[in-house]
Amino acid sequence: MTTLVTGGAGYIGAHTVRALRQTSRDVVVLDTLERGNKEAVIDADLVVGDIADKNLVAEICHKYKITEVVHFAAYKAVGESMTQPKMYWQNNVDGTVALLDTLIEHGVDRFVFSSSAAVYGTPKSVPVTENEPTMPESVYAETKLAVENILSSPERSAIKSVSLRYFNAAGASSDNKIGEDWLASQNLVPRVMRALLDQAFHFEVFGDDYPTRDGTCIRDYIHVEDLALAHIKALDYLEHGGKTMICNVGTGEGTSVKQLLEMATKVAQRAVPYTIGARRDGDPVSVYADTRLANSVLDWRATHDLQSIIESAFNWHRTHLTGYR
Ligand SMILES: NC(=O)c1ccc[n+]([C@@H]2O[C@H](COP(=O)([O-])OP(=O)(O)OC[C@H]3O[C@@H](n4cnc5c(N)ncnc54)[C@H](O)[C@@H]3O)[C@@H](O)[C@H]2O)c1
Repeated sequence: MTTLVTGGAGYIGAHTVRALRQTSRDVVVLDTLERGNKEAVIDADLVVGDIADKNLVAEICHKYKITEVVHFAAYKAVGESMTQPKMYWQNNVDGTVALLDTLIEHGVDRFVFSSSAAVYGTPKSVPVTENEPTMPESVYAETKLAVENILSSPERSAIKSVSLRYFNAAGASSDNKIGEDWLASQNLVPRVMRALLDQAFHFEVFGDDYPTRDGTCIRDYIHVEDLALAHIKALDYLEHGGKTMICNVGTGEGTSVKQLLEMATKVAQRAVPYTIGARRDGDPVSVYADTRLANSVLDWRATHDLQSIIESAFNWHRTHLTGYR
């Protein structure tokens, strides 16, 4: 009985593999390594290959006696999804459909999916609950919503799933063994870290004239180790007969870009160099999670605060200036 983790050589997947191993589960990772690192896969088997390769997935199901799957494998860059939409539909949606079909053929019936708060677009109110209407503002977000809908459809009722709508994953492992690659990420925390540690990098804040307390956008930053534990809770929920559901995974705290910069300055003990640029198209003003469903149904809540996120990220980046290379 083994857990299959697709995309387990990526940022969140690698942290989740370690959390799974700590619960004594056997784990096998399936990853193309196109955007992941084999060095990030600790204490689990790694199969290099594609989720859409039905023969390979069938072989893994058979060989490892797969009972449950955590599905991270996807492309995740919002901007790239707008310029290369076909690539995103093929990998994120067609690839997932091929994976699901193969899993169903092999009797695998528990599936945790990496969805995203991006499906809400600009929510009408915050904190945002799972009942908020979805309004994706990018191809990336549309692909995430498409998979959620496929998972809820009667054709896929053989598989019970939890779609976890992540807010902004950030930070690195507490033992500094794995973290995010700033070359592979457009996210705020790795960009702030790069601004602190790479003099050649120019860091721009996208707009400071939003209707927020300090004019910058507000997001919900969730420590990657807290996020990893949410997957364990979701697998446990399914193992105990839980029904297909969609669930936010965030802290419930809204943090502005300027607040995050202040925390980075405090942790690094030097000011973050930045300039203020124009607003970026499609950036919602404020998005943070209502976490009551995760608290009550999954018995999960975040334990790390913003300082812990920034400290772990700074520690990781200053000791891994070239990522895993
Ligand atoms: N990082 C975030 O803040 C965030 C927020 C919301 C949702 N998500 C979702 O969480 C998941 C993981 O995100 P991440 O930040 O760890 O991304 P990542 O890019 O670090 O990891 C994704 C991994 O999937 C692999 N992969 C991609 N396509 C594949 C395929 N067809 N077959 C096998 N492997 C494949 C890549 O090589 C990579 O290792 C993604 O689905 C992403 O959309 C991430």
